[in-house]
Amino acid sequence: MDLRLDELSAHERYKLLIGLVIPRPIAWISTWSENGVANCAPFSFFNVFSEDPPLCVIGINPRSDGQTKHSLKNIRRSGEFIVNLVDEATANAMHISSGEFPEEVSEFAQARLTPAPGAMVKHPRIAEAAACLECRVERLLEISGTRVLVLGEILLIHAREGIIDPRSKRISEEHYRPIGRLFADRYCTTRQRFNLPGKLPA
Ligand SMILES: Cc1cc2nc3c(=O)[nH]c(=O)nc-3n(C[C@H](O)[C@H](O)[C@H](O)COP(=O)(O)O)c2cc1C
Repeated sequence: MDLRLDELSAHERYKLLIGLVIPRPIAWISTWSENGVANCAPFSFFNVFSEDPPLCVIGINPRSDGQTKHSLKNIRRSGEFIVNLVDEATANAMHISSGEFPEEVSEFAQARLTPAPGAMVKHPRIAEAAACLECRVERLLEISGTRVLVLGEILLIHAREGIIDPRSKRISEEHYRPIGRLFADRYCTTRQRFNLPGKLPA
């Protein structure tokens, strides 16, 4: 079967792309609003693309009423944001925080999360998150009226004790249990892992 993307509706493209490209990591973005409300929301059009310089990209579309998402407003205004990484323990809170709440309502309060100060950016990180990436906007790519790609430079990694070995910088498979987004309300764990034989290229 061949499907030309220009012959499909945006909704069909969305369903196909988010169903085929799975699992996707989730950027759980946390920011302060202009009026000091702690905001957080998940975005799975997300990944890291480079380590030198260290870059991530997030794709953001408008809210259902056509307004700009609060995360993007806060990112545009401040030029900074924090990507919290979602694990099994925080999956439910992440899902709750995806609701389209009014700007004066904090998703931190709705999902019973605790804001903790960022080290290099002025936004709050999610204290319950296993790890997070403090980012500065490298550039905003205004792709269309409904799509902005946020290209972020990662300045600092914060991780809960036990997740990163301080000497080797290896990540503990036992202590870091990220989840992935599938589609609709479906997610996966990363528990089933396997090795492939052979030497890895450097
Ligand atoms: C797992 C998950 C992934 C999502 N990924 C995206 C995404 O990549 N881009 C996007 O614009 N919205 C995405 N959303 C929807 C936003 O989280 C939602 O619109 C949220 O209310 C935005 O909040 P804000 O207005 O506070 O920024 C996703 C929702 C869920 C549950």
